[in-house]
Amino acid sequence: GLGMFTYDPGYAATASCRSSITYIDGDEGTLLYRGYPIEQLAEHSDYLEVCYLLLYGELPETKQMEKFRDIITRHTMVNEDLLRFYDGFRYDAHPMAIMVGVVGALSAFYHDSTDVTDPRHREISAHRMIAKMPTLAAASYKHSIGQPLIYPDNSLGYVDNFLRMMFAVPSEPYTANPVASRALDLMMILHADHEQNASASTVRLASSSGANPFASIAAGIASLWGPAHGGANEAVVQMLESIESVRDVPGLVDRAKDKSDAFRLMGFGHRIYKQYDPRAKIIRQSCHELLNELGSTRDQPLFEIALELERIALEDDYFKERNLYPNVDFYSGIILRALGIPLSMFTVMFVMSRTVGWIAQWMEMMDDPDSRIGRPRQLYVGHSRRDYLPLDQRG
Ligand code: SDX
Repeated sequence: GLGMFTYDPGYAATASCRSSITYIDGDEGTLLYRGYPIEQLAEHSDYLEVCYLLLYGELPETKQMEKFRDIITRHTMVNEDLLRFYDGFRYDAHPMAIMVGVVGALSAFYHDSTDVTDPRHREISAHRMIAKMPTLAAASYKHSIGQPLIYPDNSLGYVDNFLRMMFAVPSEPYTANPVASRALDLMMILHADHEQNASASTVRLASSSGANPFASIAAGIASLWGPAHGGANEAVVQMLESIESVRDVPGLVDRAKDKSDAFRLMGFGHRIYKQYDPRAKIIRQSCHELLNELGSTRDQPLFEIALELERIALEDDYFKERNLYPNVDFYSGIILRALGIPLSMFTVMFVMSRTVGWIAQWMEMMDDPDSRIGRPRQLYVGHSRRDYLPLDQRG
């Protein structure tokens, strides 16, 4: 009956698991991956090293890192038949729609690593997903603009390889701009994991039944797509683009406060952070530097509108009382735009970066003797028992 279970909508007070991967203190604005502060990783590490750290728990030594880079590089190609799936999607399909489909389809191609009871299978499928995600992501973009798919180049690093698959064409040589490549690497570090967010929890719940990791990660991608979660980076830029001048900012802030209007400030607020999101702080700074270095005059006005929006919101009592600060996605879209990444690919960039977090958590869960199938209860508020009436006796 009622009252037997804890009613906790949105699981705001429920710890669903034990984890030693990511630590957040939302009051202090602290974020640690395996104990290392995000600020230090952002400054000194690179995305693939962070992947190693999240997956294996320690920073790699030289030999371990070489081996890991080599393994990931050698798994970047995808089965040629899988690439044919792309032709089945309309040219104007949203790349996230394609990603949900093709990542789920990986389980149809890599059966040889879907025995989740075997730790070696788990590790191979982990490597495969980290390695193939950029290939699948870039292909979804190439499909949408009608260009030939560009195959991975094993002589390149993870991020440069992705940029080349996105932007190269067969008829011209291509070299990624090192400034762009470094900015993207940083963005990926900052998005790599964030403990029990909606998509990570989805991956855990989906795979708690013993479902294969490719299918479970596809479920995580579906969850991330929503505008309250990873879809926010796309929604932020749409919002900023809709503001014609800084004079229009106060009006937008007023709309966000109006409870009769469904509009919310995209990129603002967070379930855990009651402080500035430490990732937003880093991205804001990097945004500033990147726009200067690239001399991007096109994106400067958008950045200025964002700064003004932040300034006005942070001074407003509504936002102060509710501790609403910019989150990771408030400034990330501006960087992605400055790098030439099209708007429809923004959430896909989040998918690419977060894949490792989902996988690290999945591997942790599979090794945890406490873990069992996820099965929440409910408070039933429907009818009590009643008898069936034949059709001619109703109404
Ligand atoms: C990510 O969880 C994670 O860790 C996620 C993430 C990760 O790395 O995995 O950090 C990535 O998803 C970032 C968040 C991206 N989403 C957005 O930017 C969308 C806009 N933000 C909101 O929808 C919202 O703030 C959430 C979804 C982020 C958090 O939702 P909560 O915790 O359920 O909070 P809430 O909606 O109950 O908000 C509390 C109050 C409410 O007002 P009251 O009813 O108390 O009067 O704050 C208000 C909300 O209406 N509020 C906002 C607001 N966000 C919250 N009001 C205006 N604009 C906003 N953006």
